[in-house]
Amino acid sequence: MSAPVEPTPRRRALRGRMASLTGNPFLAEGCLDHLEDALILIEDGRIAAVGPYAETLGQVPAGVAVEHYENALILPGLIDTHVHYPQLQMIASYGEQLLTWLTKYTFPAELEFADQAHAERVAKLFFREILGAGTTTALVYCTVHPGSVEAFFAESERFNTRMIAGKVLMDRNAPAGLLDTAQRGYDESQALIARWHGRGRQLYAVTPRFAASCTPPQLDAAGVLLKEHDGLFLQTHLCETTDEIAWVMDLFPDRASYLDVYAQAGLVGPRSVFGHAIHVTEEDFCTCHAAGAAVAHCPTSNGFLGSGLFRLYDALDPKRPVRVGLGSDVGAGTTLSLLKTLSDAYKVAALRGTKLDAPRAFWLATLGGAEALRLDDRIGRIAPGYEADLCVLDLAATPLLGFRTQTCRSIEDLLFVLMTLGDHRTVRATWVAGECVYDTRRAGDPLRYPRSTLTD
Ligand code: GUN
Ligand code: ZN
Repeated sequence: MSAPVEPTPRRRALRGRMASLTGNPFLAEGCLDHLEDALILIEDGRIAAVGPYAETLGQVPAGVAVEHYENALILPGLIDTHVHYPQLQMIASYGEQLLTWLTKYTFPAELEFADQAHAERVAKLFFREILGAGTTTALVYCTVHPGSVEAFFAESERFNTRMIAGKVLMDRNAPAGLLDTAQRGYDESQALIARWHGRGRQLYAVTPRFAASCTPPQLDAAGVLLKEHDGLFLQTHLCETTDEIAWVMDLFPDRASYLDVYAQAGLVGPRSVFGHAIHVTEEDFCTCHAAGAAVAHCPTSNGFLGSGLFRLYDALDPKRPVRVGLGSDVGAGTTLSLLKTLSDAYKVAALRGTKLDAPRAFWLATLGGAEALRLDDRIGRIAPGYEADLCVLDLAATPLLGFRTQTCRSIEDLLFVLMTLGDHRTVRATWVAGECVYDTRRAGDPLRYPRSTLTD
């Protein structure tokens, strides 16, 4: 009998200018790691070494070609902490604020996910769009239909992306075709958790839509799910508009606040991510800080629906910092590009009389998102041991960008120009778990499934 053959490690090497956050720039100085000419070595989907090209070249194993990205910037893959993939179909719907927007546009679009072929089509389009925008991880709402989750994770597994998603729970205040019951929502979530949570890079999020679409028994059932499984996430919406808050307080007259509705059901914990949190109180921020819960800042959505201006610097107050990630919140958000989302975050900060500098902005879109999701030991940085999810930005993606970036004298200037002018055109390539899945310079379709997978 012959001895078992050791599988050969999959090795890749990238060369180019590189930037990555090492800590939270809202809380500490000097968190931006930058190399003018870096070499990144990847082994079996993880970063094995990063260093100045000249010093690291000797570590490239014989036979491994170095992919050289010239006039580019290599960043960690971007992280979207709040997005609804089924809403791609009604992004850019005119003229309403949240509650009317939900009934007029959102619910009709989500009803179509009863059709599995539709769910599969939209899931494929979603991955095409986010990978083309440099996003490699997202916390994603599906619809009430279990098949919408199946379609989503199946496509994520093909790309080997690290994704977190869940079936929406809603048992009131929506059309009949979108309602489950507390028991059915619980049972269907259990089955999806058993099938997908921790399978490869996929993770599950218990997803009560928001307090107004869930009865108390349904919120309690969500709390039970969280207790029954390790490492589950919880995603929902919180204090997005003043009308919504008034409605929730009418529906839950015994609760001290909107956040208290979730707290009483056991939904405020270290893997909870609350979308929006615009009209929260200081007490709410303290509760989130104490629980280790996170909020998702969704500036394009908040502007589009006229919901309000998120208080970023209050949320991240060093006295009791709350974890904050960046969310596209498509379809209320107007883009899946987190670069464009950052330019709106800058404007929201400006309207509040504050400034969002580039290191802080890119922290929100990378390591801050990873911290919000408690995945900062594996994604959000370019450092040895981290999963090799990367996005490569083309500094001359458009004539204007090429002209403007030539005059940038510092990495901070360059990042600021990229977040202000950048969009999906700026993304030259996207790497997932050490494989290039999107490359604009490849002949034919820039997107392709990788050949192998990284498991946990
Ligand atoms: N609140 C409840 N559902 C939704 C949704 O789908 N989008 C947004 N922006 N807010 C919500
Ligand atoms: Zn949302």
